[in-house]
Amino acid sequence: MDVEKREELKQMLKRLHEAKPEELEGVKSQAEKYFKETDPAELAMAEQELIQEGVGRQEMKRLCDVHLEVMKKQLGAQAKSLQMLPASHPISILKDEHKIIKRNLKKLKRTFDKLKRAGSFEKAGKDINILKELSHFFLDTEKHHDREEEGIFPRLIAHGVTEPPEIFKEDHVEFKAKKRVLNELIMSAEKKGFEEFVREAGPIVDFLAKNLDDHIYKEDNILYPMSYQTLDKDEWKDVRKKFDAIGYCCFAPADLKKKDRTK
Ligand SMILES: [Fe+2]
Ligand SMILES: [Fe+2]
Repeated sequence: MDVEKREELKQMLKRLHEAKPEELEGVKSQAEKYFKETDPAELAMAEQELIQEGVGRQEMKRLCDVHLEVMKKQLGAQAKSLQMLPASHPISILKDEHKIIKRNLKKLKRTFDKLKRAGSFEKAGKDINILKELSHFFLDTEKHHDREEEGIFPRLIAHGVTEPPEIFKEDHVEFKAKKRVLNELIMSAEKKGFEEFVREAGPIVDFLAKNLDDHIYKEDNILYPMSYQTLDKDEWKDVRKKFDAIGYCCFAPADLKKKDRTK
């Protein structure tokens, strides 16, 4: 991308970042027009440079949410092109897992709320067992994040895309810690007592339901389209090998299952 365009892009991002609440809508609609011509890889590079120039990563995350909102329509179109990839492609595997993770996040929130309303473990019946199963599922999804971190991120970095992997990795670290605490709480729930369990687990359930869902949205709509543009074909074959070596969580990819049957 030419330097001039990148500078313009950075200016636009800065204006979004600095806009006062009353100006934000106006700046957003200007940005929307401007971002129409911008692909996710360009945007990522511009953000990366802003961070290198001193905009804090935390601030950039907030900004990310604003530009995501602005780019929603356009990103949808780019993310759609990933639908043409075969089911065996690493991106398809991750996206399919996202669907299952999202479904189970909803179930986690729903089940926890139901248990809370019930008022005691006795009245909640099987709900605590469902929470135990879900908690195991979420611990197991660490493999999904590992595959992103070890399969895709080092290759993005090798291509000079260094900031997005950092940002997503920070999220992973945070999720991992929360999932572990939640698992401990759920496993010792009956010992702990109902009130205390609900009080301590509630904020973690809410945190995951919101933030993990947002994380997935950003990956499907920014990180994956950008990765697809950045890595070349042969690299994806190596990514897939790395994926197979790390292993899967939610399901086995269809082509692996076929291979198993012919063994
Ligand atoms: Fe991730
Ligand atoms: Fe993911």
